[in-house]
Amino acid sequence: MIDKKKVVIDCDPGIDDCFALMLCIKHLDVKGIVAVGGNTGLKYTERNARYMTELTGRPDIPVYAGYDMPMLNKLVRATEVHGSGGLGTVAIEEPKKQLEKQHGVDYLIDTFMNHDDISLITLGPLTNVAQAILKEPQLKTRIPEILCMGGAAFCGNTTPAAEFNIYVDPEAAKIVFESGIPIRMVGLNVTRQNHMTFEDVKTLKAMGNPVADFAAEILSFTAGQDGRTGLCDACAVSWMVDDHIITKSAKVHVDVETKGEFTRGMTLCDWREYMGKDPKMDIAHEKQYDKSDLVPNVDVALEFDEKRFREVLFGTIASYGE
Ligand code: BDR
Ligand code: CA
Repeated sequence: MIDKKKVVIDCDPGIDDCFALMLCIKHLDVKGIVAVGGNTGLKYTERNARYMTELTGRPDIPVYAGYDMPMLNKLVRATEVHGSGGLGTVAIEEPKKQLEKQHGVDYLIDTFMNHDDISLITLGPLTNVAQAILKEPQLKTRIPEILCMGGAAFCGNTTPAAEFNIYVDPEAAKIVFESGIPIRMVGLNVTRQNHMTFEDVKTLKAMGNPVADFAAEILSFTAGQDGRTGLCDACAVSWMVDDHIITKSAKVHVDVETKGEFTRGMTLCDWREYMGKDPKMDIAHEKQYDKSDLVPNVDVALEFDEKRFREVLFGTIASYGE
């Protein structure tokens, strides 16, 4: 049997976070889940995380609560996208599974100070991770890597410049992106390459297992808004689940804008090295004028195999019925 990759997941479920958890719980060795306030309040995100462990048959996975509010920013939620309880119109019972007593930030610190082989996945605002780094700065050399759904290589969603997870807590994102911890970033430029629609709701309904039924319900809420959804967090974790879904990435320097009047929360990617150089990587088809002296700190995902992602996602959800 192949050893599964060990991960801790910090998330704010959230509809697409739930899909990401379905993938991670099946394919990865999930050591713990930490909830953060983001899409909705912490009292719902931690409850939804606990619910997902029960639904997927893994109530043994510990769930911790971290911070509800961003470090400095005004409070921003995405309840119009995820519903006030974070699961669209699906009303769930309070799970039997209990929340761990330890604070999520202390769990992050203990875990990464005592283990060398666990990766961190972040699917929400980076508040907990930044607070953990501030409380225990040695984490900068203890966390081997962060796979982050957040940011955008080119264009935001909450604002023209900023993606939601970064926009909610730009100061936290800045601390994490400047920490020196290797980061793989899956931003909106990739998740916009995925298209989930009502057709997919029908496919899920036909599977006839409780995970698929729940997936169909929450997908129908989010797909109903624009006729399609990218399921951002599920796209992001696919980079850990299957090496062949993200088909192109580039290591560049990424700064988080915290001051801009119009650009606060933007992930500013330094693409100067990728212009007019290598036709395979040339993102702008322009002559290169400047050579960057900024050190790359992020591996930014660029291209995505939608067909393969869909096969993995649907195959995984169907397998919950076996
Ligand atoms: C991100 O924001 C949240 O609404 C989603 O759960 C995802 O993590 C997409 O911008
Ligand atoms: Ca999320």
